[in-house]
Amino acid sequence: MKKEKIQIFDTSLRDGEQSPGCSLNTNKKVEIAKELEYLGVDVIEAGFPVSSPGDYKSVEKISESINNTIVCALSRAVKTDIEIAGESLKKAKLPRIHTGIGTSNWHIKYKFNSTPDKILERAINAVKLAKKYVEDVEFYAEDAGRTENNFLLKICEKVIQYGATVINIPDTTGFCLPEEYGKKIRFLKENVQGIHKVILSTHCHNDLGLATANSLYGIINGARQVECTVNGIGERAGNTSLEEIVMIIKQNKHLNLFTNINTKKITFISNFISKLTEITVPANKAIVGFNAFSHSSGIHQDGIIKRKETYESINPKDVGVHQSSIILTARSGRAALNYRYEKLGFFLNRNSIDRIYPIFLEYADKKKEITDEELKIILKNSNINNDNDQKRYRNSIEIKC
Ligand code: KIV
Ligand code: ZN
Repeated sequence: MKKEKIQIFDTSLRDGEQSPGCSLNTNKKVEIAKELEYLGVDVIEAGFPVSSPGDYKSVEKISESINNTIVCALSRAVKTDIEIAGESLKKAKLPRIHTGIGTSNWHIKYKFNSTPDKILERAINAVKLAKKYVEDVEFYAEDAGRTENNFLLKICEKVIQYGATVINIPDTTGFCLPEEYGKKIRFLKENVQGIHKVILSTHCHNDLGLATANSLYGIINGARQVECTVNGIGERAGNTSLEEIVMIIKQNKHLNLFTNINTKKITFISNFISKLTEITVPANKAIVGFNAFSHSSGIHQDGIIKRKETYESINPKDVGVHQSSIILTARSGRAALNYRYEKLGFFLNRNSIDRIYPIFLEYADKKKEITDEELKIILKNSNINNDNDQKRYRNSIEIKC
């Protein structure tokens, strides 16, 4: 069976930039957009042009600089938003307007003080107007996660009639459980008239830590675009993280799906965006955290040294990490100690390792992690260096570098 493509819609520069404390100037945004294109994303959401002159300029500059990737601008279902989004995309080779409105009762009643019929009308008018500027119009039903499915169906049918090319079903508040979100997508896929004319998109927030799982259930049930951000940055607890969803698709061949992402560039883009946004990636973050390929307990280290697959299901090279690391802590065993000495060029026999190990543990109990320099000091200061042991030391250690 032929594999189906999942489009990666990166919104690091729009939803990602909504992370508290994050602000990117135009130059940085253009640099990031170029790297995203190089990474292989299908769509770059460049900004929300009506929100500020700076954001308008960023969308304009990104439109000029990007050649083979769709450049998308966000707007509300508001006339001036759409007009300004259309203007900002004038120079884009592949422009898309992303317009939409809140569809849940929470939004209709409290945000808009409106009615479902009026919301439907605004959705139609927004798509109609956006179509005057660009062919490619994505419609978002904000808070779709908490929107009643029958109303969602109605609004989807209408925006398809008026020419929407993509329909985004955001779980704006990170409310859904994966199965529930998957069912919503399946319901739309099976019941909306004309659904074959559009791509269904997921846009999941991470308030309960379920963003990636929800996106996964979305694509398993028929969505063919995932909206995500590098490092999962974004409003509140963030968005689905690009690296997670891409690697899930790559690792699970039975899903019969693929993306266009060059996964070997994932670590680079993660570091690059972390540096430019000044948002630190947590050490234990899946795929791109500093510890994602570090092993520190003795049992794991022993297994990894014997065969990597014992404790690694992802090949670090696939995401651009040269090799996994063995971190020496008080939980490490002799195998790891020996491994690290060998890496430094010291080939110790079993006897010597047995003698150094308790000294190493004494150091390790006082410190979080033992460095290469400290290993050399431990070796130098160990009894192995005593006159009595010189011979044995010389016999058992071959210094290679
Ligand atoms: O989370 C959300 O609903 C959004 C929309 C504006 C697409 O970011
Ligand atoms: Zn969002």
